[in-house]
Amino acid sequence: MNFLPLIEAKREGKILAPKEIQEFIREFTAGRIPDYQMASMLMAIYFRGLNSAETTALTLAMRDSGDVLTFPKDKRPLVDKHSTGGIGDKVSLPLAPLLACLGFRVPMISGRGLGITGGTLDKLDSIPGYRSLLPADLITKLVQKVGCVICGQTDTMVPADKKIYALRDASGTVPSIQLITASILSKKLAESLDALILDVKFGCAAFMETKADARKLATAMVTLGKQCGTNTRAILTDMNTPLGRAAGNWLEVKESVMCLESSAAVSAAAPTAGETPALPCDDLRTLVIDSAAHLLVQTKKAKSLVAARKLAEDCLNSGAPRAKWDEMIVAQGADLKAFNRKLALDSTAKIVVEVKSPKAGFLAKCDARIIGEVIRDIGGGRLTKESLINYDVGIDRLAKPGERVEKSGVLCRLHAADSAQAKAVTARLQAAFEISPRQSKVAPLVQEIIG
Ligand code: URA
Repeated sequence: MNFLPLIEAKREGKILAPKEIQEFIREFTAGRIPDYQMASMLMAIYFRGLNSAETTALTLAMRDSGDVLTFPKDKRPLVDKHSTGGIGDKVSLPLAPLLACLGFRVPMISGRGLGITGGTLDKLDSIPGYRSLLPADLITKLVQKVGCVICGQTDTMVPADKKIYALRDASGTVPSIQLITASILSKKLAESLDALILDVKFGCAAFMETKADARKLATAMVTLGKQCGTNTRAILTDMNTPLGRAAGNWLEVKESVMCLESSAAVSAAAPTAGETPALPCDDLRTLVIDSAAHLLVQTKKAKSLVAARKLAEDCLNSGAPRAKWDEMIVAQGADLKAFNRKLALDSTAKIVVEVKSPKAGFLAKCDARIIGEVIRDIGGGRLTKESLINYDVGIDRLAKPGERVEKSGVLCRLHAADSAQAKAVTARLQAAFEISPRQSKVAPLVQEIIG
């Protein structure tokens, strides 16, 4: 078939029929439409947009381009979370076992990091023996048995998105709300979910820099998710400051375990003057509890967000999600003894240096973009898809906005591959922090709920 008329129709701003979109995606996935024609179509979509029916058709066609996970009937709802990504965003790690303990099944299909934002799979790859790539039948089996799995997309899941995303990357068509929406949701819908919570971030280190753009994306995803039969909600969260007190693959796994072990009283404890605690601060815990609470309300397991938060918090405090974490990683091949030995180490990097404050005052800003760029540049992230990762580098003991810092107090600790590397980036890291004589108000982490 000749697909040129469809490309020309979209170029002229015409509306495509769902059948035409389905055929275009099916033929492209099968290799019968060349990349240059798909790239032209993507550019036409970028400029002309897609209406809601077209976006739904595109999303479902992409979902159906490969295997869709199927699960036996079970009273435990199937749920997941997606984050648009940020620095120190490790919420998925403690959230999956928490959700399993709250009576959900969690087939959490995650991705790798590119650029400054980290990827859940890269974090998990720092666990000795952990298998982040599993075949579809094993994903189903483990979800049924353990309650949660965190792994990558199989080769046969949503192949259309893999091919289209590579072309969008190379053709300057990534920032289209409809294409982003279809890309994210086609992958989540392939998990056959009952409910989905989306964490759409905005700020200097987020995919969407402004809250208005994040709101647009969130609204589009919530509308589409619902149209496709999945109860979908979004929260808009601030990504100007890194989440938690650690960023970098292994350091984030460690902080996630601390989050599973912490109680509210400990994690909310004010740091001693001049010190930053190694424990995760409240923002990570808040976001983990809030994400679980929304899913409890969405699936009618709780009547209100207040009641749901209490359920999630009590469950986290019970220690059951910490034990579930071990069960999950062992089911995915982790060597628990080696993992625990690694956890007991203060650092796995060659060198640890303290980044110190040049003056006393209150932390007014901690620029997540600068921190993300530094970690990427020292090997913690990828500059290209082929880049190798150093799992051990990163930062921890991060001071957070609103906290008091003393002169020469620790702003963060840098874990680096060697002293030359540490020396090369210390000044850049220091520039991420702004110290003010007065304590300023800290913006709330979760700023809006959509849907
Ligand atoms: N993440 C995705 O999976 N797809 C996009 O298009 C953007 C972010």
